[in-house]
Amino acid sequence: MALILGIESSCDETAVAVIDGAGTTLAARIVAQRVASQDEEHRPYGGVVPEIAARAHAETLAPMVGAVLEEAGLTLEQMDAIAATAGPGLIGGVMVGLVTAKALAMAADKPLLAVNHLEGHALSARLAEPGLEFPYLLLLASGGHCQILEVRGLGRYRRLATTIDDALGEAFDKTAKILGLGFPGGPAVERLAREGDAKAVPLPRPLLGSAEPHFSFAGLKSAVMRARDVGLHKPEDIAASFQQAAIDCVIDRTRRAMAAAGPVTALVVAGGVAANASLRGALIALAEEAGLPLVAPPPKLCTDNAAMIGWAGAERFAAGLTDPLDTVARPRWPLDPDAEPVRGAGVKA
Ligand code: KG4
Ligand code: ZN
Repeated sequence: MALILGIESSCDETAVAVIDGAGTTLAARIVAQRVASQDEEHRPYGGVVPEIAARAHAETLAPMVGAVLEEAGLTLEQMDAIAATAGPGLIGGVMVGLVTAKALAMAADKPLLAVNHLEGHALSARLAEPGLEFPYLLLLASGGHCQILEVRGLGRYRRLATTIDDALGEAFDKTAKILGLGFPGGPAVERLAREGDAKAVPLPRPLLGSAEPHFSFAGLKSAVMRARDVGLHKPEDIAASFQQAAIDCVIDRTRRAMAAAGPVTALVVAGGVAANASLRGALIALAEEAGLPLVAPPPKLCTDNAAMIGWAGAERFAAGLTDPLDTVARPRWPLDPDAEPVRGAGVKA
């Protein structure tokens, strides 16, 4: 039985979990977990301030490790390995988590598992759904990333699509800002959209129908801004119309990627935006159309958490993939290093 302590600190959530790699159900696999959001600290700035995030992680993390171990009724010595996000993310926060994991690994003489945050999201579906087999098609939609990947195995990814400008979560967050909904934006836009008419505001669907399955959301965001400035539309109608336009893009692009992928066992959605109920509904319909099951982890496992990091660590530990103590934190760390840069794209991987 492998017990893994997982640590996540790459953005604005400090999180710790104890994972039982031998568990055969989701409930058995997550022995204990906690997530502390820094929303209050960042709210006055309308977005995540890296320096504030790193300081908050440094304050919160060590006591949280103690609390989660206590809740699990286990000691550090009983862990088989210590896993932490080693990138990609805001480097100050990643360093806090990784260095904490190294210190714990040294103190208890346990192996270190340096986990790619994106692999944590990618494998969260296998944590939630014990029967899910490789290869599967993954839509990974978070605040920093919007990609479609063929997940062929542990550490084996083929990127089929990425965004040429904004990530999907970023588009939700910017729309929230434009509509004055505050921070964090995604859940606020989803709530307001429930009150609105998705057909009320004509908005563009960038790249819809284009041959390659890449994403673009910058033009949609600008159109949302213009719609607000016109002053004729109700905010709930803008929110609903934005959400529908974004979902239409995601469905079209994912359908295109499905056609380009090899045979897969399932369509999987992960990352913070996968918490969006309308998106999940649209993806269920798309998966049905393709004769595939849709695997969507529970919303709590879609937004940043340490269970997914502990789980990715457990999968790596089972495969003998431990990491040396001089492993460095990485601000950028693509899952598919061989993916070609997209024509017209910005710097995002
Ligand atoms: O995966 P995540 O927690 O952090 C990153 O690694 O980026 O994703 C956060 C993103 C944010 O942009 C947030 O607004 C978005 O996920 N998000 C949502 C919802 N919940 C979180 N977007 C739309 N609808 C939601 N319900
Ligand atoms: Zn994330």
